[in-house]
Amino acid sequence: MSYRRIQVQPLAGALGAEVSGVDLGELDDGAYAEVHAAWLEHQVLFFRDQDLSPEQHKAFGRRFGELQIHPFLHSRKAEGHPEIVVLESDEARPYVASGWHTDVTFAERPPMASILRGVEVPAWGGDTMWASCNTAYDALSGAMQRLLSELAAIHDTSKTFSRDAYPSESHPDADKMPSALHPVIRTHPETGRRAIFVNPAFTRRIKGMRPAESDALLGFLYAHVATPEFTCRFHWQKNSLAIWDNRCTQHRVVADNARAHRRMERVTVEGDRPA
Ligand SMILES: [Fe+2]
Repeated sequence: MSYRRIQVQPLAGALGAEVSGVDLGELDDGAYAEVHAAWLEHQVLFFRDQDLSPEQHKAFGRRFGELQIHPFLHSRKAEGHPEIVVLESDEARPYVASGWHTDVTFAERPPMASILRGVEVPAWGGDTMWASCNTAYDALSGAMQRLLSELAAIHDTSKTFSRDAYPSESHPDADKMPSALHPVIRTHPETGRRAIFVNPAFTRRIKGMRPAESDALLGFLYAHVATPEFTCRFHWQKNSLAIWDNRCTQHRVVADNARAHRRMERVTVEGDRPA
């Protein structure tokens, strides 16, 4: 794919590209079309020096679709901007999201995209990693692909947003805990590529399997997706911005240099029902 308005430099073999030559605060339709095409091609895009106001950050998200307000994390929402989740860590507050996950897959319609901006970042450490669930799927044997294509998995919040882990958050009662049944392999509605769609934060079990079978298969898939060749890693600077396709990737923070102050702001775009 060639681009005329933006420069696109891939970062790794499986996914990830750094884009330059564009100010996301003043994005015209032609530049947006190229950013969107590059995003579908590379699954996660990185931009530097994007000093966006909360309004500009939200407006960039709205280019892709309607913004989602996170069902929990109430105490992490930005003042006056419930669409912006603030992820802040320092000496007193641990990193958030230090395990591999796809955002909000316990919802019937998980987000299509997440857009994360570095507001305060440490001089070193605190990188974020992404993994391509497309590339991971493509690397499976035909026999494994056929087995997985028949399966669905239950996703919920029990492992990640428990009352113990988030005592200050307001939670629904246990019997109203959100959960969703998603295919283990989903097909991307825009690219047509297939992706492994289970993750260790929110997938509880594979429907119809005995616990030992489900645990073994999910454990294999989690380790497989995290294969270094399927990943990329990004070092943040102040005003760096990442936008990832939540339909075909997982991500995690590398929780090193954990005492340094790090403040990230995230906007999330509504998605469709995985199929
Ligand atoms: Fe996340």
